[in-house]
Order: sequence, then structure tokens, then C-alpha cells
Amino acid sequence: MALSLLNYPSRLDLARTPTPLELMPRASERWGLGKRIWIKRDDLTGATLSGNKIRKLEFIAAYALENDYTILITCGGIQSNHCRATALVAARLGLDCHLVLRSDDVPIALTGNFLLDQLAGASFEILPTKGWGRNLSRRYVSLEAEFEAAGKKSLMIPTGGSDSLGVWGYIAATEELQCDLIENGLGRVAIALATGSAGTQTGLTAGSALFDLPIEVIGYAVCDDQHWFNARVLSDWRESVARWQQLPDLPLTPITRDHSVGPGYGQATPAVYELIAELSRLEGVVLDPVYTGKAFKGVIEDIERGFYDAVDDIVFIHTGGVFGIFAHSDSLSAAVGV
Ligand SMILES: Cc1ncc(COP(=O)(O)O)c(C=O)c1O
Repeated sequence: MALSLLNYPSRLDLARTPTPLELMPRASERWGLGKRIWIKRDDLTGATLSGNKIRKLEFIAAYALENDYTILITCGGIQSNHCRATALVAARLGLDCHLVLRSDDVPIALTGNFLLDQLAGASFEILPTKGWGRNLSRRYVSLEAEFEAAGKKSLMIPTGGSDSLGVWGYIAATEELQCDLIENGLGRVAIALATGSAGTQTGLTAGSALFDLPIEVIGYAVCDDQHWFNARVLSDWRESVARWQQLPDLPLTPITRDHSVGPGYGQATPAVYELIAELSRLEGVVLDPVYTGKAFKGVIEDIERGFYDAVDDIVFIHTGGVFGIFAHSDSLSAAVGV
């Protein structure tokens, strides 16, 4: 499909786009084994309102305003970037926001994204990790009814804003990426990113199929495994095609790598912390331990294994998440030697 012929749903202008595509010369020298490593700076979509989630929220928030929703409700881990972004978008648009957060910590440290949630004035409640999925589904049903009784219309946003509305964020970003590739004369390219609730991966995988781009999109799982993500990309895509007539029912072949998940969601190995510190020193680019640090480690390991032998250039999408590092300062202290 020719670029820009796609009929997008309503969208707000919240993200500072296009974001820069930058070559990382010293990182390429250090880890590239002859390949160039580029970084697409989606961590620069804003300041506190930064990261990949803003691209999705441009469509989700437009839908909320068009349909007279008065409160955005969403969920995630206590340091969720998506929850922080949603809380700030709600404040920016004069909407209310309620967050259902997952944590077993007592007391909960008022830091990083959770601190920003509070500054944005979001109300919140905490559910424990045990039984999270089941309890969350139940709570979503009761919350909607409670807010309705209080005269509010709730838009229930799923984890990570990953659904048939959020998917448009990274379909649109694929158009931007194509311009980046042309401007920089890149041919044989792979796009690598952290995948957590699969929405970014679905958008990029679908976008490259829709616009017929000769690129492979590789998602690096930060939890679960490759089978879960591949199935999730396909089911989100089926749902999107069913909802939007303008999306052709193209077959997708999602590619997920899961060797850098480490101990589990939100937990990283010392090697990830060391890599974050090393890349910060080398390039002035700061990754986070929950998403981008893990994914970047996966990319480096894959370069060593020859997984990227068919390409000359690897574009790593920096999906943001810097506020998450503040909740990991103890683990980072060894990596920075303080
Ligand atoms: C910094 C960062 N990178 C990557 C991701 C993964 O994006 P997605 O949920 O679309 O898979 C997230 C999701 O929370 C994130 O916060």
C-alpha cells in the first residue's frame, strides 16, 4: 500500500514526532561485528510524556474525547510507563484517571513512574501479583460500574494500551521509519524492540506488511515466551482487521526472541545493569532494566550468534522507560561503581 493512503482513525497530536534516527558509532564498533547499530529515539516523544505509549495514546485519547469518556482507567506494574503516560495524558486533556497497579511491596516507594502518577493526580489502587490476571478482569467490571454510578464514563484501556486502537500508533510509526530508512540510505535492515504487551510489535509488524517494507521486525520479550507473543500479535491483528475496514487481512509472520527475558518481568540480571551503564557512557543513551536494557542485550547476543547475518543495519527502537531506573538504583549501583 502506498504511504499515507491509509485512512487513520482520529488522532491527537501528543507525541513529538518524527523522532530522530541516530547512528550509534561506538556501540556499533563495540558490539556490531561489522553491522551498524542505529537507535530510533522514541524515548524523545516528550519529557515526562515520553516513550512508545504516547504514540498509542494519540489514538486512544482521541477516541475517548470523541466518545465523551470522562475517565481513563488502565493498569500495569507499579512502575508502569504506560500508566504514567496515561495519567499525564488524562491531566493534559482535563480527564480523570484511575490506575490499577500491581505490587507486593510494603511500603511502596514513591519514586519513578509511580511518583509521576501521583503528580498527575491519578487515583490508584494496588492489587497483589498473585491472582493478578483474574482479579484485574473482575475489578475492571466493578470499577466501570462504580464510576458510572458516580456519573463518570470510563474508558477501560488494557495493559500497555495494546489493542485494536493502540495498534495504530506503531502502524503510523512505520511510515515514519520508512522515511528514516530512505533518508539514511538503509537497505538490508532489521528493526528490534522490546515487547511487553505486544502492541508495539503488532503495529510495526503490521505496518511493515501494509507498506510492503523489506524489513524484519524482531520483538525481544521482557516476560513470557516467544509463543505467547507470536500468538498475541496475531490475535491483536485479527481483532484490528475485524474492527477497521481499512485494514486489509494480510498474513503476518511475527518474530519474537525470548532468550533475554532473564528472571522475569521487572527483574534483570547484573549483565543488563552493566550493559545499561556501558551504553550510557559510550553513547549518552540511557536504557531501562525492565524493557529496553533487556532487549538491547538480546540484540547483542543475537549479533554474536549470527542471527542478524542477513542485514547490514539494525535499528533498535528506544521505547523509553527512563523513569523506571530510579526504582532500580540499588541494582545499578554496582554497575556504576558507587
Ligand atoms: C519502555 C517500554 N518499552 C517497551 C514496552 C513494550 O511495549 P508493548 O507493551 O507495546 O509491548 C513498554 C511497555 O510497557 C515500555 O514501557
